[in-house]
Amino acid sequence: MFGSANDYRQRCSGRDSPYTKMDIITEGISPHIKNERTFVNKHRSKKTNTHELAPLQDASYLVRRIGEVTKLTREQVVDRLRAESRQLGLNVRKAFESRGLTRYQWSEEMSEFYDDTDAFLFETVIWNRTVTKQAIRSWVETFLTQTLPKKAKILTFGDGLGFDSLYLALAGHQVDYFEVSQRGIQFAKGLFKDYQGNVNVLTSSDQVLPGQYDAVVCLDVLEHIPEPSNIVAFLAGALREEGYFLVHAPFWFLSPAVVTHLRENRRFSGDVRRLYRPHGLHAVDSALFWNPIALQKRTDGSPPKLSIGHRAQLFFGASVLWWGRFWSTPYVPFASLMTKPSDWPDLDTV
Ligand SMILES: C[S@@+](CC[C@H](N)C(=O)[O-])C[C@H]1O[C@@H](n2cnc3c(N)ncnc32)[C@H](O)[C@@H]1O
Repeated sequence: MFGSANDYRQRCSGRDSPYTKMDIITEGISPHIKNERTFVNKHRSKKTNTHELAPLQDASYLVRRIGEVTKLTREQVVDRLRAESRQLGLNVRKAFESRGLTRYQWSEEMSEFYDDTDAFLFETVIWNRTVTKQAIRSWVETFLTQTLPKKAKILTFGDGLGFDSLYLALAGHQVDYFEVSQRGIQFAKGLFKDYQGNVNVLTSSDQVLPGQYDAVVCLDVLEHIPEPSNIVAFLAGALREEGYFLVHAPFWFLSPAVVTHLRENRRFSGDVRRLYRPHGLHAVDSALFWNPIALQKRTDGSPPKLSIGHRAQLFFGASVLWWGRFWSTPYVPFASLMTKPSDWPDLDTV
């Protein structure tokens, strides 16, 4: 479909991408598909799984692996991680500004930036250690484990350094990891090997076949991509009927901490109708403020039957996020709290 990661990214950044239509596959539906009643009942008993991922607690390991991938010295890696721990987004912002790129605006140079820079390694490690990201990861795993059969087939799309893939693989699922950043892929391959995560690394988006996944997990990716509807269409096509799309995309969030978020995507804040529904995806559940949201593929157009609690949660998230289409500023202090890096004393003793 999209070919190599580079070829794929060029295509999906094009306004006239041919991948605007969803591949609707209704054959080969898993016998494990749950009906709505089961879905709602299971979620009533949802409990949060808060265990942390071991490599994210191991400063020596992370410093060594980042050093191997970037060819920086241990001291350089520690300094940059420390700076990132004080201010999330600092490495990316500095690298971005040194190239004279314009914040929040897509360009070919931004595409090259994703390819060349090592700055995302630092940001992604620190972001994945935050309380907020751990809660999102845990929510996703709990939702999938309680809703899907054991060993569900999951695609993690744009999973950066592979932490979410590892977490889901260790929970017993069959995970396919896809990422466009070569440094990200290199780091993730080592992570899966070192922590015995049985994760399949896809080398091309051509390997994402239509209708084969029970779930697609896409966290903090769509707000970076021009015309995210094209990617949503592609990923909805990869889901089997009644499969789940788990997404976190803070479209409203524009601040110096996230210079690669695109202003043009703010219009999708709190939106299901234009971004997901045209691709057969219906909201079924969410954590507070859609951190994240779960949607189900229902190509016959029939809406899922949801409890009042689920409806209220989804509606509340949409109402709060809707205002972010017009104005980010009121949300930024809240976002700063949510993205506050966790303390990491071990970094000083590496
Ligand atoms: C903020 S990071 C999030 C990484 C990971 N999902 C996480 O939560 O740790 C954004 C990721 O999106 C990836 N990305 C950017 N453009 C992409 C595209 N067109 N297709 C797939 N992934 C993309 C980047 O390489 C990066 O790994």
